Amino acid sequence: MKCRAEIEAQDLIELDTEDASYLKVVGCSATLDLLRKYRKEYGVDSSQWPMPAQGDHSSLLLKEALEKQRGSWQFPYPHDELCHCRSVTTHKVDQAILAGAHTTEQVSRLTSASTACGTCRPEVEKILRWRGLIK
Ligand code: FES
Ligand SMILES: [Zn+2]
Repeated sequence: MKCRAEIEAQDLIELDTEDASYLKVVGCSATLDLLRKYRKEYGVDSSQWPMPAQGDHSSLLLKEALEKQRGSWQFPYPHDELCHCRSVTTHKVDQAILAGAHTTEQVSRLTSASTACGTCRPEVEKILRWRGLIK
């Protein structure tokens, strides 16, 4: 099964659960370079690759694709809409986080989530924590 992680219209990493040598990568030079480095250092078998720990967008995408491939991806917020006051989807919030919003304030600025009642802010924090961006 194919599993992908992407920032829409920007970067895409696709792996396969059955064929660990399968790799599709589309995107900026940072993402292409990261995948080239992984293949060179750790071989074509992505099941042997270490989890990236960095918070740059290429590493976040690779980590997501690897976790999906290994079955350890359980996104922490299951609903489609995250901020009900501003009608902001979970997807939009997560895309902003991937693209570089690494605090709740930055997420609010980019998406307008959590700018009214604020009860959704802990959910934004959960996603930031899940992505390893805050403690
Ligand atoms: S639910 Fe997000 S600000 Fe109220
Ligand atoms: Zn990129």
